[in-house]
Amino acid sequence: MCGIVGYVGPQPALDIIVEGLSRLEYRGYDSAGVAVLADGNLRTEKRAGKLQNLRDALAESPPPADGIGIGHTRWATHGAPTDVNAHPHVDNANRVAVIHNGIIENFARLRVELEERGSKFHSQTDTEIAAHLLSDELQSAGDGDLAAAMRRTCRQLEGAFTLVAVSTEDPDLVVAARRNSPLVVGRGQGENFIASDVAAFIAHTRDAIELGQDQVVELRRDSVRVTDYDGTQVEGNEYYVDWDASAAEKGGYKYFMLKEIMEQPRAVADTLLGRLGEDGTLSLDEMRLSPADLRDIHKIVIIAAGTSYHAGLIAKYAIEHWCRIPCDVDVASEFRYRDPILDPQTLVIAISQSGESMDTLMAMRHAREQRSKVLAICNVNGSTIPRESDAVVYTHAGPEVGVAATKTFLTQLVACYLVGLYLAQVRGLKYGDEIRTIIEQLAAMPDSVERLLDTMQPTRDLARSLADSETVLFLGRHVGYPVALEGALKLKELAYMHAEAFAAGELKHGPIALIEPGLPVVVVVPSEEGRGVLHDKIVSNIQEIRARGARTIVIAQADDESVRPYADDLIELPDVPTLLQPLVATVPLQIFACELALAKGNDVDQPRNLAKSVTVE
Ligand code: AGP
Repeated sequence: MCGIVGYVGPQPALDIIVEGLSRLEYRGYDSAGVAVLADGNLRTEKRAGKLQNLRDALAESPPPADGIGIGHTRWATHGAPTDVNAHPHVDNANRVAVIHNGIIENFARLRVELEERGSKFHSQTDTEIAAHLLSDELQSAGDGDLAAAMRRTCRQLEGAFTLVAVSTEDPDLVVAARRNSPLVVGRGQGENFIASDVAAFIAHTRDAIELGQDQVVELRRDSVRVTDYDGTQVEGNEYYVDWDASAAEKGGYKYFMLKEIMEQPRAVADTLLGRLGEDGTLSLDEMRLSPADLRDIHKIVIIAAGTSYHAGLIAKYAIEHWCRIPCDVDVASEFRYRDPILDPQTLVIAISQSGESMDTLMAMRHAREQRSKVLAICNVNGSTIPRESDAVVYTHAGPEVGVAATKTFLTQLVACYLVGLYLAQVRGLKYGDEIRTIIEQLAAMPDSVERLLDTMQPTRDLARSLADSETVLFLGRHVGYPVALEGALKLKELAYMHAEAFAAGELKHGPIALIEPGLPVVVVVPSEEGRGVLHDKIVSNIQEIRARGARTIVIAQADDESVRPYADDLIELPDVPTLLQPLVATVPLQIFACELALAKGNDVDQPRNLAKSVTVE
């Protein structure tokens, strides 16, 4: 959840690190800090709050510019977001500085042992124990070997962590260790970088090295050495980052979220690119599961969290409809604790934009332990979940910096549709023409989304007019229900409002009691194809809430005259097939939440208490 950066090289370390932290601030913005090693002296500066507070402190008394350094932006887990709990943490002799991402689960016991050995603690964090432990290991060995001390330290830690350290004992070395939490090396010319995300150093190099589980890396200006926790040298996995620094910039928009919403047509198009063959057959780039494996599947379980979970709920409708395979969808944090029934003929689909959500990672590992096959749908090349999966379908949304998922959600839907169609293809349930038709319908979606985005000003105005509302409810049926869930989630995470979504048919079983005069209720109406049973049922639901005074905000196809009389506000959608409607119906809900949050003065890129990838359980 935190952002980590390290640098060793000839450039001013502080500038590199603070610039890197600014690109990682979406990972956590409770506090920020740096440690710079120059002329054998360790200088640490840290402040609670946004990175700007640290910048101001550094401007007041700038540490030496040269040398090597590490930096951190924090998402607080243990200890409140204060200056003293900010990272880096140092030992009592100011010999070692450590930054950390993750949770050290056995920190309380280790703290007692270290205090008995004379360490004086200043913070309430789990991280500080690593600084004291590392210092003790260095001292007891007396050989100044920071990497060896880090390996011994890591063998005593339990939990998920990435640790990065510098020490006065070896002023040309940055050492880092990884277990579960993300960590990637940027290999430069005469300089090297380390970070929790390539965005931190992509302006300097696009040559990256993935680190595996339980590994330690030593960075010097002209060398990168990776070992396992026993000290055996191992190879990191080198890869080239296929997007550039500008992709991770605002491109003239005030907020990343606004830019990322407008990038959705391109993101959907890029995710479809190159997947439909001349003969109408689908090919999925890293589908390392053979057609025979996939024909052998008798059950599918989708695991995911937050917005990705909503994509999974929509995928269920498409997969069961096209493939006639039972498809369960589980909240990742609940999955392994419910002792699910899994076997080698179960395909588990792990959906995660970041590829690092710990709940989804642990759920996926549980499925693999049960010998189920795992397919990852992910947006970040080289992240942990795809790396540990049997197969992966990458979404090509490009980097998403805004904490609220937007373009990655739409591309996840596209990837889920592709997986559903591919399964139907290899299982002989759908053939060239049918698949080509649906793919052509999908291929038309970027234009539909583009045209829809051009019609959103009334939705923006509507949202701003509701900025004083306390509650907004969302209703949907069929794929419209998960869309309603996504709309409610966006309003919660961005506008900090009570927002709840219901399957419209559930209304009469309780939630209708919430309806009172003027209460805004957003209703997602199934598209043309669905007109008939589903459509008519939701029209009745709209009438039920309207009868009790609700303000009905109806999202429906432009030519759907039957709902118009019951809509206080009508948001018109282009005409698209029912199963694909979430690709357009979600867009107004993203804009509604974003605009309402902006009207309340909220920072839509860094909503309070949230972080882009949740790397702790
Ligand atoms: C969505 O806007 C949120 N950022 C959050 O719910 C997110 O979808 C969830 O944490 C899952 O993240 P992942 O897709 O990276 O696994």
